[in-house]
Formats: sequence, structure tokens, C-alpha cells
Amino acid sequence: MSVSKKIFLLVGLSSAIALTACDTETQESSAAANQNVVAATQTEAAAVPATAVALDVYKSETCGCCGAWVDHAKQNSFSVDIHHPIDLNATKQEHGIAPRYQSCHTSVTPEGYVFEGHVPAKFIHQFLAEKPEGAIGLAVPGMPMGSPGMEVGDRFTPYDVLLLKKDGSSEVYASVASTQEQF
Ligand code: CU
Ligand code: CU
Repeated sequence: MSVSKKIFLLVGLSSAIALTACDTETQESSAAANQNVVAATQTEAAAVPATAVALDVYKSETCGCCGAWVDHAKQNSFSVDIHHPIDLNATKQEHGIAPRYQSCHTSVTPEGYVFEGHVPAKFIHQFLAEKPEGAIGLAVPGMPMGSPGMEVGDRFTPYDVLLLKKDGSSEVYASVASTQEQF
């Protein structure tokens, strides 16, 4: 059995107690599981900037999966400032994230690019390296099972990372078919 498989089994055990990743009470075990996943995959991680990239993260105070995603971001060259606005929907609206693209938390760079939901850190680094013309950021709508911060054992639901355009449209930026493709 490979080392990564063993670690995924451990992650599965540690989060088996947690039925849902976005429950306040499961925040700690979910965050711990996330750390294990990141530790297991760090050696394979794509090149990331030497200096941490600043992100303002807007979330609800009691969101467990948001905290787990923030840990993932911090472990992948982001420095995070957390905010708990009274009206999170207003924050999303201000940044041009239509309801169909929304998830739990919203991350914003100093330049104003937005990253909605459980977007894997490597795609944010890729986007910021490319800064595609006419794009405002990326989104992973909803909360796909097995995305960074949404670990529940080894369960995984394939999902798309969407490129959000200034005109409100979107296109698929990356299709993520497996856990490994996220790191
Ligand atoms: Cu979430
Ligand atoms: Cu969140």
C-alpha cells in the first residue's frame, strides 16, 4: 500500500466521526483531516509563489468547512485575513458573484479578484499567474464532497472550477475528477 493511500485511510478514520464537514461541531476534526491531506500531498504540489499571497476571506463565524478551507489556503502560500460580515450575501453581491455561482465563503485578493467557495489553492495560484482577460475570478458553486475543506472520509464528488467573467457569464476553468487532481 502506498504512503498516500495509508494516509487517506487515516483521514477516513479521523473524519468518520464527522457526518458532515460543514457542521460547527466537526470543525476541529475536519480541519485536522484537511491538514493530513495537505501533508500527504505537499511533496507533489505545483510550484507556488515564494511570498504568501494575501486573501481576505468572508465567511460565517460558525462555518466549519470554511475554517478547514482557510487551513488549506494557509498551507499553500496564502496569508488569510478572516472577516465575519453581518450580511454575507451582500458581500457576494458586491463582488459580482451571482447566486448560481455561490458557495459558503468568499475570498478576495487586494486587486479585487474573487474566489468563491472551496476552490483548490493551486487553481487560484494558476489564475493569478495568468490573470485571464475579462475574468473576475473563480468559483466552485455549492460545496462538493471531497473538495479542500469538505473532506468526509475518502468520499469525492467530481466538480468543475468555473471561470467567472465580468459580464456575468462563466466557463469551465478546470474539471476535477479525483482527489489527487486538486493538489
Ligand atoms: Cu463550505
Ligand atoms: Cu466555506
